[in-house]
Amino acid sequence: MRKKIVAGNWKMNTTVAEGVELAKAVAAKSVEVPAGVDLVVAPPFTHLVCVADALKGSKVALSAQNCADHEKGAYTGEVAVNMLTSVGCEYTILGHSERRQYYGETDEKLVVKTKLALEAGIKVILCVGENLDEREAGKHFEVVKNQTEAVLYTLTAEQLKSIVVAYEPVWAIGTGKTATAAQAEEIHACIRKVIAAKFGEEAAEEVTILYGGSCKPSNAKELFAEKDIDGGLIGGAALKADDFIQIALSF
Ligand code: PGA
Repeated sequence: MRKKIVAGNWKMNTTVAEGVELAKAVAAKSVEVPAGVDLVVAPPFTHLVCVADALKGSKVALSAQNCADHEKGAYTGEVAVNMLTSVGCEYTILGHSERRQYYGETDEKLVVKTKLALEAGIKVILCVGENLDEREAGKHFEVVKNQTEAVLYTLTAEQLKSIVVAYEPVWAIGTGKTATAAQAEEIHACIRKVIAAKFGEEAAEEVTILYGGSCKPSNAKELFAEKDIDGGLIGGAALKADDFIQIALSF
């Protein structure tokens, strides 16, 4: 049985003190979430040490939002994977559309980052998703297929086991517009097919595929009811512990 995961992407929000408070609230409420659902929070880099401490003893795992494409050295402003493991990060998000769009994150860079993270023992939440123009041009399947193949097809079957895919249609992120459950499901099923084409049906069945893009307590149940939707990558609604936990209770 593949894992169900609800992950909170805090993006560039909260001060350290606010982040610790949020993490403590999530950790406290996480006891309500059944054992079969994993919880992850991804605060900004500056918060990781303190948030790790706030999460101690809870079932909530820690994630980064990005990592460097080099192991160490003269890369001012970057954060390396061994720094992430040293503060207890179990996951990192990679390839979020905001990074692809505003910071020139290419598939080639994502291959490098993904391998560095996996080699360091960090699981990767790889984001894929089309923008509005691509959807309107009917290219959404093609875009998502290409983004998925570009990274996952460079991995071994063993490495695939440490990958979570997050489908996040760019037009649904932070806009209040959610993909319908049917729209999300057809892309999730397509991602699973793309994975199966290289790694086989059985391996593809084991990969957790999250939906992201204005996922909230009011729509999570419908989305999570779909066969290939195994949870969510939550932005705005992850900044409120109650909403985040409510989403995790929507399976
Ligand atoms: P949103 O963001 O839930 O605020 O739309 C999701 C994401 O970008 O991960």
